[in-house]
Amino acid sequence: MVSAGLSSLLYGGGHWQGIMAASSRLKSTLALVTGGGSGIGRAVCQRLSREGASVAVVDVNINSANDTLQTLSSNLPGQEHAAFTADVSQGDSVGALMEQIQSRFSAPPRVAVSSAGITRDEFLLHLSEEAFDSVLSVNLKGTFLITQAVARAILATGQNGGSIINIGSIVGKVGNLGQANYAASKAGVEGLTRTAAKELAKFDIRCNTVLPGFIATPMTDKVPQKVLDKFAGLIPMGRLGQPEDIADVCAFLASNDSRYITGTSIEVTGGLYL
Ligand SMILES: NC(=O)c1ccc[n+]([C@@H]2O[C@H](COP(=O)([O-])OP(=O)(O)OC[C@H]3O[C@@H](n4cnc5c(N)ncnc54)[C@H](O)[C@@H]3O)[C@@H](O)[C@H]2O)c1
Repeated sequence: MVSAGLSSLLYGGGHWQGIMAASSRLKSTLALVTGGGSGIGRAVCQRLSREGASVAVVDVNINSANDTLQTLSSNLPGQEHAAFTADVSQGDSVGALMEQIQSRFSAPPRVAVSSAGITRDEFLLHLSEEAFDSVLSVNLKGTFLITQAVARAILATGQNGGSIINIGSIVGKVGNLGQANYAASKAGVEGLTRTAAKELAKFDIRCNTVLPGFIATPMTDKVPQKVLDKFAGLIPMGRLGQPEDIADVCAFLASNDSRYITGTSIEVTGGLYL
C-alpha cells in the first residue's frame, strides 16, 4: 500500500492540482506512462518525475520498465514510483494493470502518456494481414484501451481533472513508404484523441496528441543509416530529434500550463514537412 503521505498528496484536498513552482509542476500527480521501458516513454518518465510526479512505468517488457524505474527522480515528500507489466493491446491486461496501479497508489493516474508502439514495416503490396493487425492492435487499440481505462478511473473518483497525452507520429499526417499499417494506426490515434477531447472536456480531462518526427531511439535504430541520413537532410533543424525533445512537450501538456489546450496535435519534428 502507498504511504499515507502519498495518498493525501494524490487526493490533494479534493481536486486535481496541476501547477506549483517550475520544478514541481506535477507535484501530487500520479502519471501512467506506457512504453515506459524505452526511448520516448523512458524520457517521459524521467521528465515527469523531475516535475514532481509519481510515475507508474508500464511496459510489456518488465525488465526494461524496472531499468527505467532506477533512473527516476524522487525529491519530493510522498513521491514514489513503480513498474508494471502490461500488454496494452489486450483489454484484460489493461484492466489488471489499472487494478494494480490503484492498489499500489490508492488513486488513479491523473496524467496518462501512451507511448507504447511498434512497427512492422513492409510495402503495401506485400503487407500481411497479420502485420497490419498487430500494429493497429498495439498503436491504436492500445491507446484506446488506456485512454478509456484512465478516464473511467478518474471519473470513478467523483473528482474531475486530468491530462491524457497520446503519442502519434508525423507519419500519420503525411504517410511514409513501407508504413501503411503504422501511418494508419497513427492517423487513428489523432482521430481517437480528438473525439476523446470532445467527450471528456466536460470532466476537465484534456486529451492531446504529440506527433514526433524522426527521433533517435531503439525504434529508429532499426532504420538503415542511409534512410536516416536522407531524413536528417530533410529536417530544417538539421538533426534527428532526441527523446527529451518529446518528453519536454509531454511535461507541458501534462501540466496546468496547457490548461486551455485540448484536442490538438503538436508536431515535434524540427520542421520536417513544413
Ligand atoms: N522514434 C521515432 O522516431 C518515433 C517517431 C514518431 C512516433 N514515435 C512513437 O513514439 C512512441 C515510442 O517510440 P520509441 O521510439 O520510444 O520506441 P521504442 O521501441 O524505443 O519503445 C517502445 C516501447 O513500447 C513497448 N511496447 C511495445 N509493445 C507494447 C505493448 N503491447 N504493451 C506495452 N508496451 C509495449 C516496448 O517494449 C518498448 O519499451 C511509439 O508510439 C512510436 O510509434 C516514435
